Amino acid sequence: MLTVKNIEKSFGDKKVLDGISLTVNQGDVVVILGPSGSGKTTFLRSLNYLEHADAGELELDGKSYDLAKISRKDVLEIRKKTAFVFQNYNLFANKTALENILEGLVIARKVPKEKAIPIAENALKKVGLLEKRDFYPSQLSGGQQQRIGIARAIAVKPEVILFDEPTSALDPELIGDVLDVMKELAEEGVTMVVVTHEMSFARDVATHIIFMEGGHIIEEGDPKEFFTRPKEERTKQFLTRIIPELNIDPVI
Ligand SMILES: Nc1ncnc2c1ncn2[C@@H]1O[C@H](COP(=O)(O)OP(=O)(O)OP(=O)(O)O)[C@@H](O)[C@H]1O
Ligand SMILES: [Mg+2]
Repeated sequence: MLTVKNIEKSFGDKKVLDGISLTVNQGDVVVILGPSGSGKTTFLRSLNYLEHADAGELELDGKSYDLAKISRKDVLEIRKKTAFVFQNYNLFANKTALENILEGLVIARKVPKEKAIPIAENALKKVGLLEKRDFYPSQLSGGQQQRIGIARAIAVKPEVILFDEPTSALDPELIGDVLDVMKELAEEGVTMVVVTHEMSFARDVATHIIFMEGGHIIEEGDPKEFFTRPKEERTKQFLTRIIPELNIDPVI
């Protein structure tokens, strides 16, 4: 459904993505793990061209694109089929929860407003925030704002939703509600690519794990295998450092 091959990206003379390839099938929840600076955000942003890759091929919904020389029209086509959930929510401060969701439907996708309103309300209901319909972002908690961010993503019914550390700006007690919404989407078969440090989400919800470092995929595979029998020394180091804090059975 979504395939990328050999994505490369440099900032100045620093190569940040060095030939990353990935296949995402319908209904997959791909979790991307890796230390800070490994290129996770850059990779995710390359998938819907928020970041302009230097090289690479992207195939989405049966159509193939050369990321090095892509037309404006093709970029818009990719953006229509994907949705992005940002670490810092990226909501319009001067728009209500409902208006934030309507924006992507009415402006970007030209859905008539009277049709868009019930779609947006349904999305709000899905994230448990219908009663906050007319609230502005400043009147909502971080967790609620992020759930609005997720409602905005699901409202447009994209082929795939890309999440970049959706809970890392949240206070610990607000993380659970956001993860619950994401888990529910996964159970419904929504295709997702998720950068996160939430290891229990990775272990319990992911269908596939990618572990990146230095612009490379060091190891990838099934979560069970990944967490219980990692093959690479670097993966073992990463997991032993992170697992005790997160109360995952130590299994290495
Ligand atoms: N716009 C930019 N200009 C220059 N360098 C950048 C830019 N964006 C990212 N980088 C560099 O690219 C590398 C990868 O960054 P990226 O944000 O993709 O890492 P990450 O894995 O998402 O890290 P984190 O876990 O901290 O979010 C880093 O060294 C970063 O400094
Ligand atoms: Mg990042």
